[in-house]
Amino acid sequence: MTVLVAYSSKYGATEGIAERIAAALRTAGVEADARPVESVDDPAAYDAFVIGASAYMGSWRKDATRFVRRHRDLLAARAVWLFSSGPLGTERTDAEGRDVLVQAQPKQFAEFAESIKPRNVQVFFGAMDLSRLRGRDRLVSRIPAVEKILPNGDFRDWPAIDAWAQGIAQELASAPTGA
Ligand SMILES: Cc1cc2nc3c(=O)[nH]c(=O)nc-3n(C[C@H](O)[C@H](O)[C@H](O)COP(=O)(O)O)c2cc1C
Repeated sequence: MTVLVAYSSKYGATEGIAERIAAALRTAGVEADARPVESVDDPAAYDAFVIGASAYMGSWRKDATRFVRRHRDLLAARAVWLFSSGPLGTERTDAEGRDVLVQAQPKQFAEFAESIKPRNVQVFFGAMDLSRLRGRDRLVSRIPAVEKILPNGDFRDWPAIDAWAQGIAQELASAPTGA
């Protein structure tokens, strides 16, 4: 049983989460490789998948979305977990009392719930070093309304990430194949 942790990361925050998930799976006795989605040549070689990307303006990164769409039939037949990295800050609820991690699900997750039926989807708090932003991201981050919801810093919740990965290892041990 080998799990592919495939990720798409623009500035490195999601890459760190993917590496951590792969490490936690290995600690739990599950073979796991973390790779950027664009470097995966033969996904059929893997038994199960964790696929993660960051969200920008409500959307999962395009190469991760393309990966899921391209390999839809394979993924629908195997065990898949999806995650998104995004919200910045530590507040679990927004001004309307809604769960920030539910609100931050990228819009593509509704499509994937139908097309590949993942076993679980999860949003994790992200990280951003605003001084490293390039191009359009830099311009958008300076819009006052956006600036308020993009605090600088690393908000990745490592205990939550480890716990999620351990849950995956347990599920794979009890129900290794199929969707
Ligand atoms: C311009 C901009 C737009 C963003 N839009 C969203 C968003 O819509 N939803 C979200 O959850 N996070 C959003 N974020 C936060 C990033 O997704 C977060 O920092 C993520 O952890 C970055 O991961 P990466 O370095 O792997 O790309 C945005 C960040 C920037 C700079």
